[in-house]
Amino acid sequence: MYTILKESHNGIGMLLLFLLLLVIIFILVRFLLKKPFNKSVKVAALIGMVTMHIQILIGLILYFLSPLGMSNFSGESMGHTISRFYIVEHPIGMLLAAVLITIGYRVTKKINLPDTSKYKKLLIYYFLGFAIVAYLIPWFLWS
Ligand code: HEM
Repeated sequence: MYTILKESHNGIGMLLLFLLLLVIIFILVRFLLKKPFNKSVKVAALIGMVTMHIQILIGLILYFLSPLGMSNFSGESMGHTISRFYIVEHPIGMLLAAVLITIGYRVTKKINLPDTSKYKKLLIYYFLGFAIVAYLIPWFLWS
């Protein structure tokens, strides 16, 4: 169970990073070309948000199953960079990124807002979420 979740968390994490980048580029291009804020933008934003939520859910379960998660919490582990990364920085930062993406997605529900404002808000929140995810992926695993 732990191994399946860990591998899924790894795979979906990479997929999410790539997907968010694609979604941001797609929305940015439509914004720059002054295209209407239509259903395709909403669907693209929804795909990004749903993938993010799935990843957070797996991350939360993993936090209680992994030897690097909750069970590793102690005063001593807080002094160790990698332990602290998995116990505090990675989960809290990723949760913040998910909150930003979710707030950004809510813009698609607004009716009485000009398209330009919707595009700008969506792009800012999604870009911030993407930047945090990109920063907090444990890249050191592959270096
Ligand atoms: C967008 C959100 C997230 C992304 C992209 C992400 C990505 C990753 C990646 C790539 C790994 C390395 C997996 C491996 O060693 O094979 C990892 C590990 C881990 N993540 Fe996340 N994560 C996210 C959110 C979260 C959240 C919200 C939590 C906890 C609340 C969490 C808890 C963990 C834990 C405990 C590990 C260590 C697993 C282990 O090696 O035993 N993650 N994460």
